[in-house]
Amino acid sequence: MSAVDVPVALLGYGTVGSAVDRLLAENAEDIERATGHRLRVVHALVRDPEKERPHRPPAGVLTTDFAAIREDPSVALVAEVMGGIEPTGGYVLDLLRAGKPVVSANKQLIAREGAELFRTASEAGVQLRFEASVCAAIPVIKILREALVATNVHRVLGIVNGTTNFILTKMEEGAEYFEALAEAKRLGYAEADPTEDVNGADAAAKMAILATIAFGSRVTLADVAYDGIEAVTGAHVAAAREMEMVVRLIGAATLVDGKLDVRVGPALVDRHHPLAAVEGAMNAVMLQGDAIREITLEGPGAGGMETASAVVADMVSVIGTTGTGFLQNDACWRELPRLPPEEARSPYYVRIDVDDRAGVLAHVALRLAEQDVSIARLIQHQANGEAALHIVTHEASTGHLQAALGAIAGLPETRGAPSALPVVSDRGVPGLGWA
Ligand SMILES: NC(=O)c1ccc[n+]([C@@H]2O[C@H](COP(=O)([O-])OP(=O)(O)OC[C@H]3O[C@@H](n4cnc5c(N)ncnc54)[C@H](OP(=O)(O)O)[C@@H]3O)[C@@H](O)[C@H]2O)c1
Repeated sequence: MSAVDVPVALLGYGTVGSAVDRLLAENAEDIERATGHRLRVVHALVRDPEKERPHRPPAGVLTTDFAAIREDPSVALVAEVMGGIEPTGGYVLDLLRAGKPVVSANKQLIAREGAELFRTASEAGVQLRFEASVCAAIPVIKILREALVATNVHRVLGIVNGTTNFILTKMEEGAEYFEALAEAKRLGYAEADPTEDVNGADAAAKMAILATIAFGSRVTLADVAYDGIEAVTGAHVAAAREMEMVVRLIGAATLVDGKLDVRVGPALVDRHHPLAAVEGAMNAVMLQGDAIREITLEGPGAGGMETASAVVADMVSVIGTTGTGFLQNDACWRELPRLPPEEARSPYYVRIDVDDRAGVLAHVALRLAEQDVSIARLIQHQANGEAALHIVTHEASTGHLQAALGAIAGLPETRGAPSALPVVSDRGVPGLGWA
């Protein structure tokens, strides 16, 4: 049987775009055997066609003319692998309106402008897929949308930024933050400008996308409270180690009594928790839900070929589901309220520096107890008349913890502002009796 010829176009022919072209060419026979279709790149949009490139497509493929792609009736599908918000967002909207399905690897675009993009795709009756926008090679979107469609997922925990995970792993081995960042740049794990990685914005965009899909309610970047790893010090890492924990940048999306809470920030993770074992530039996502208990997916979260594999998988899925009535449009079907930040609950690690004298610990414990925050573990380090208290609490509301820390900061024996980080230790689904 002869294969159906499917001309496709790429917006972008950089690290990911050129890898998509190579994967399609090198695996053309496998794809044809599996799907009966042969995908062929006929246009690739770039800024500068004359630029030196490690991989060059056949003459005539590179173009600077977006309209030529939009107007080519033979182009059945477009992969957006150029990045950025503008002009990219406008191009994707134009393509959808022209009836062309789009596959995107662009987390910032999907997290910021998803509502308009999916509405447009839905109106045009074409698909918009975005697997590669979150955790590159890990097929977490497909698993959430298809494999777990009958599962009430109520928590997604993730290590979704490889750069920061690499830096934190190096700090565990003894490196200082700036040394670890320099090594990440040298090895290509961090961009020349790593701001969006280290300040948590990159992870926040990915968590917005994961939360949207997991809970079926639109979560944009503006809904995600995020914090990066710039303030993580060797002292945090050492305190974590002493308490058999590791520091990780954790994205957490939780559904609490029908309200959404999505956040990204450094947290202490119990050594026995699956996310503690995720080292170096790897990514992992843990999904918790009623019927599945928990599933953890781990794999490379970046890289040209790794990301391209997810783009190609989406392209094949579009081809495989077009015309069957199974459209992958907007995943959102409801609008959930946001959990007020002070109601979010977690165990916490707290560090408090105090004068080393009798009765201080009792004052601190009383301020915590007054806010219903109970202590699970306590380690004390003394030197030169000062004591550093390292406390792990049982689960407490963020509002109560902040009130207790405010009262502790006001004690005459307290030196400096107390600091707190959430702790990730529990597995499973509380309430189902097996947590
Ligand atoms: N690299 C990764 O590991 C990775 C992982 C996950 C997701 N992603 C996402 O994948 C997308 C692409 O990343 P990348 O690393 O492949 O980027 P890249 O290497 O910088 O490639 C970008 C490509 O887009 C073209 N381009 C950019 N702006 C353009 C414009 N205004 N008009 C026409 N062409 C334009 C560039 O043209 P020239 O070649 O002429 O400069 C280049 O070919 C981004 O959304 C990124 O977030 C990347």
